[in-house]
Amino acid sequence: MNNRGRFGSRLGVVMASAGSAVGLGNIWRFPTEVGQNGGAAFILVYIVFVLFLALPVMVSEFVIGRSSGTNIVHAFRKLAPAKWWMIIGFMGVLAGFLVLSFYSVVAGWTLKYMVDAVANRISRNDPGQIFNAFVSDTWSPLFYMAIFLLLTHLVVIRGIGGGIERYSKLMMPLLLLIIFILVGCSLSMSGSVDGIRFLLQPDLTKVTPDVILSAMGQAFFSLSVGIGCLATYASYFSKNMNLVGSAVHVCTIDTLVAIMSGFIIFPAVFSVEGVSVDAGAGLVFITLPHVFSSAFSHMPLLGYIFSTLFYLLLLLAALTSSISMHEICTAYVSEHYKLTRKRAATLVTLAYLVLGTACSLSFGPWKDYTLAGMTVFDWFDFATAMFIMPIGGIFISLFAGWVLERKLLTDELTNNGTLKMRGLKVLVFLIRWVAPIGVGMVFLDQVVKLIEN
Ligand code: PFF
Repeated sequence: MNNRGRFGSRLGVVMASAGSAVGLGNIWRFPTEVGQNGGAAFILVYIVFVLFLALPVMVSEFVIGRSSGTNIVHAFRKLAPAKWWMIIGFMGVLAGFLVLSFYSVVAGWTLKYMVDAVANRISRNDPGQIFNAFVSDTWSPLFYMAIFLLLTHLVVIRGIGGGIERYSKLMMPLLLLIIFILVGCSLSMSGSVDGIRFLLQPDLTKVTPDVILSAMGQAFFSLSVGIGCLATYASYFSKNMNLVGSAVHVCTIDTLVAIMSGFIIFPAVFSVEGVSVDAGAGLVFITLPHVFSSAFSHMPLLGYIFSTLFYLLLLLAALTSSISMHEICTAYVSEHYKLTRKRAATLVTLAYLVLGTACSLSFGPWKDYTLAGMTVFDWFDFATAMFIMPIGGIFISLFAGWVLERKLLTDELTNNGTLKMRGLKVLVFLIRWVAPIGVGMVFLDQVVKLIEN
């Protein structure tokens, strides 16, 4: 019917979409946010947002993607009565460029730490200073970032079935296996009781407006929603795929992985004296190396295995997400400019190299080039997680709920009435009212605060 490619199986769809969702956001960003925002209370708010805001937006993306069968910009052109809806598609492509640009920098660090872990070179002395020296260097982080982008490129040029689906089906089970091993390992450490308590005993006094905002940003980022990434994947779904069931699977896997990452990191962190849980972005690159060397000082082999597996896990997670961001842009460039996938992907990768370089240098030679106190890296992160994703989320759910014909929406959700769905009315209500209003309120609150400061 067309030569865009297609996912071959239900498993492929769930693995690829969960692969997009599960990423640095789960294993690096989630524990960082949990550590800084009060532990269990943050997790509770996060789960509420996943259920009531991010899940409906994800279902909306699936509907828009599959019913249009094209990239996110053309999807709005095809389905929307008014031209301006295409802006939402363009915002998605732009965000696809911005997110992967800063993401590939952190993924590059991960690659370097994995190489060091395999070579048993993770330093025991002063990991903070070593990390800072590495990221502020000019060439070394650029080198690792470029290798990471090349790996992403090599998967994307192979297309949907032979590239994204095939590698997701390979990498995701491996990733889940590693998580289980590491959780087991971490729970057997001396700090496990404190770690578990931190993750499971909510102190509701810690739920401040800032915590709420961070939890929403995190939910959107972690589930890859709001920028048309999952709509792009859904444009390769077959007509008999169960959209709602797949979305529920993806949300469940993503949330479990995030929480399990907490179960890997916090018991380990609580096992070493003098290490704080709110170490911020350095948690997995500074705190953990210190934890690995202290907690396993009498069992170096176990420490070696734990750290190697951990950075491999982080790398696999980053890769399955980066291919999905690359695909938003590759699908658009190839379909809009009528280029082969290989050519389009090459242009997109080159653009990432340029933008990623700017992000990487903002830890070193360009760290003083700031606007409102933020570097290029900070701006890309801030603009996407705090602005483009929520705005995209609002408009995507409004579009699916109000602009698409009601019959088209329910036909997509039930595969033309062949799927029996309990809760259909509730889901449509969430898409039409709860998601846009909920996200809009949290977003406006943030804008007001920003203006006041
Ligand atoms: N969800 C990914 C993570 O948690 O790391 C990040 C991400 C992927 C964001 C794809 C946006 C996107 F379109």
